[in-house]
Amino acid sequence: MNAAISEARANAVDEAIESRQSMREFLPKPVAKETIAHILEVASRAPSGTNTQPWKTYVLQGASRDALVDKVVAAHDALRADPSLASQYREEYDYYPEKWVSPYIDRRRENGWGLYGLLGITKGDKDKMHAQHQRNYRFFDAPVGLMFTMDKVMGRGSLVDYGMFLQNIMVAARGHGLHTCPQAAWNGFASIILPHIGAGPDEMLVCGMALGYADETAHVNTFRTPRVPAAEFTTWLD
Ligand SMILES: Cc1cc2nc3c(=O)[nH]c(=O)nc-3n(C[C@H](O)[C@H](O)[C@H](O)COP(=O)(O)O)c2cc1C
Repeated sequence: MNAAISEARANAVDEAIESRQSMREFLPKPVAKETIAHILEVASRAPSGTNTQPWKTYVLQGASRDALVDKVVAAHDALRADPSLASQYREEYDYYPEKWVSPYIDRRRENGWGLYGLLGITKGDKDKMHAQHQRNYRFFDAPVGLMFTMDKVMGRGSLVDYGMFLQNIMVAARGHGLHTCPQAAWNGFASIILPHIGAGPDEMLVCGMALGYADETAHVNTFRTPRVPAAEFTTWLD
């Protein structure tokens, strides 16, 4: 490969990775089925331990998407009105730690209040917080909702593999001018989602994802998240 081609390729890959950000407002513009299918095909090149490929993907558009949104939005409202319903809405695996410690809790808070601050939502404003959180259950108006499951029998390593598959989808989407928001917010509503998508009894919900053309002018989409410099998390051993 000549130097110009390899530099162009490196730039294209860097650009696809660096231009990915979680978008939280999408345009109603539909996404071609062939484009979604292509992205999933490319994403399936993700590595997985002994090539187990633990991912199962459900693509929701149109009526199936809208019906799921209605069900989960209603459940989210009902849960707020009656917190005792929480026992019906449990995550199937612990995405977050039981006990938060520094520096992770600090980054989490910075992220949450950074987003809410941008939207003018203050600490005591429970109604606005609920409404903003509920945007998750509308896929942030994206026309395509993805749900990801894996067989419960698989080990924790399959979640590592899964992350690579999910990242591939998000990066490949960039190549087609599309944006995404990965969403663990759905996880508590697996008891509604799994029957809706027709998942088998051996499957567990890994997460959801919004996919579509982002409204790049939306205020919420100007939210940029910081990163710890690589020098801070890397130990070089010579
Ligand atoms: C597995 C996973 C689940 C996430 N769940 C949600 C979610 O439910 N709702 C949301 O708004 N963002 C969610 N995010 C997005 C993160 O908040 C976001 O990735 C992080 O703040 C870094 O920002 P960036 O994606 O814009 O780079 C999730 C991210 C990942 C990787």
